[in-house]
Amino acid sequence: MLFKKSIDSLIQESTESGEGTLKRTLGVGNLIALGIGAIIGAGLFVRTAAAAAEHSGPAVTLSFILAAIGCALAGLCYAEFASMIPIAGSAYTYSYATMGEVVAWVIGWDLVLEYAVGAATVAIAWSEYLNKLLETFGVSIPYAYCHSPFQTSVDGIQGIINIPALFVVVLLTFVLIRGTQESATLNGIIVILKVAIVIAFIAIGWGYMNPVNHTPYIPVNAGEIAYSNGEKSFGEFFTQDFGNFGISGIIAGAGVVFFAFIGFDAVSTAAQEARNPSRDMPIGILVSLAVCTALYILFGHVLTGVANYSEFENAGKEASVAYAIENYMHGYHWLSVLITVAILAGFSSVILVMLLGQSRVFFSMSKDGLVPKVFSAVHPKFQTPYKSNLIFLVFVGLFAAFVPGDVVGDMTSIGTLFAFTLVCIGVLVLRKVDPDRVRPFKTPFMPVVPILGAGVCILMMVGLGAHNWERLLIWMALGFAIYYGYSRRHSVVRRKHREGQK
Ligand code: ALA
Repeated sequence: MLFKKSIDSLIQESTESGEGTLKRTLGVGNLIALGIGAIIGAGLFVRTAAAAAEHSGPAVTLSFILAAIGCALAGLCYAEFASMIPIAGSAYTYSYATMGEVVAWVIGWDLVLEYAVGAATVAIAWSEYLNKLLETFGVSIPYAYCHSPFQTSVDGIQGIINIPALFVVVLLTFVLIRGTQESATLNGIIVILKVAIVIAFIAIGWGYMNPVNHTPYIPVNAGEIAYSNGEKSFGEFFTQDFGNFGISGIIAGAGVVFFAFIGFDAVSTAAQEARNPSRDMPIGILVSLAVCTALYILFGHVLTGVANYSEFENAGKEASVAYAIENYMHGYHWLSVLITVAILAGFSSVILVMLLGQSRVFFSMSKDGLVPKVFSAVHPKFQTPYKSNLIFLVFVGLFAAFVPGDVVGDMTSIGTLFAFTLVCIGVLVLRKVDPDRVRPFKTPFMPVVPILGAGVCILMMVGLGAHNWERLLIWMALGFAIYYGYSRRHSVVRRKHREGQK
């Protein structure tokens, strides 16, 4: 049988007061800020250049559009869930109520890829830009101490540990432990700064675009060149050149830059701390997504117009925005420094929201007995799940210190896309099994939106390639081992069911 949590009991839990619950302090402005705070980050300032260099060239703008379509569709599904089940836990909680414990576990476990591994990805990007900033002052951290052991520099130096990435994770974990309200205020300031520098780069960079860099806008697929014997149509989709530019490159690039959109769903994890969740959550999710999409398309266009996408493969691989300004926008060195400082602050807010989301998901899972009680222990004074934060500090810290940014970045993308796919399906399921439930926000054009949403997300997962599927499967296999070894025996829903039968 399917073990599900009833929506009524979920809502009741969220309104209980007293010890062990979280404070309701966030308004709609805070939620939009939280969304944008989580959205604009390493995806834009680091992964855009990587996607352009390796997959889509200037057509990275089209990759952004494809990724945004997937996010908007999944976002509408998220919004319906978030408004009807306004409690902490994000996709995990929603799926527990709709698709049962096993699927909920799969999603909760998968969200670790989104939040914890995602936080590590941004921490690694932070380290790149820190180095850029230090260079301005004539200092630089030795390569070995700011790269993972799996990376080697062009001069043959091997990485050992990424100390700056580790440092920022430690620092922000302590900020989080101090309390969400304080973190939200800091976040608000950073969001304004972050949006301002993106606009500044677009506005100033526009005049420095070289049309040559945008020609052709969609670079030819490598397979098409190799097999240009008259049968090139669709050849790129079925050869090893899948994703090397061309149309398949746009899809692969979308999987990579999808990372830049991750986070709008983090708003939903804060539902338990929202003052008016049923009205504010959908607004928070959709407004933050819309603002970011417009900025990303313009940004991608300008970045690949200022510098040639091929440069982002080597010389401009790290801290690509600063690279483009310094090499092509002469006289704007100050802008590069300013942007770098703002990026460092911006990345910090992303890491903060991701760590927050992670601890909240495990908070819910722990309350449900699926992970140990330690994850829901609340600090007596700060009222934050401090033990959980400390445990994730170790986990995220290890990834940040020892794994390359590309690997963790794409793991984050594929894990999140998988969660989004399940959320889209979840909305459909719930409309069928519980049609009368009040839905303050309804996903429009049912069932087209969730079906298309799941389809676009799966397409992007395919774009991410075999290695990432392998990593996702290994992670999920580990998750199942824990579920059958621990969670089933400790599940509160199952225990209540057993007691009910006696
Ligand atoms: N969207 C967030 C970023 O790009 C995760 O850093």
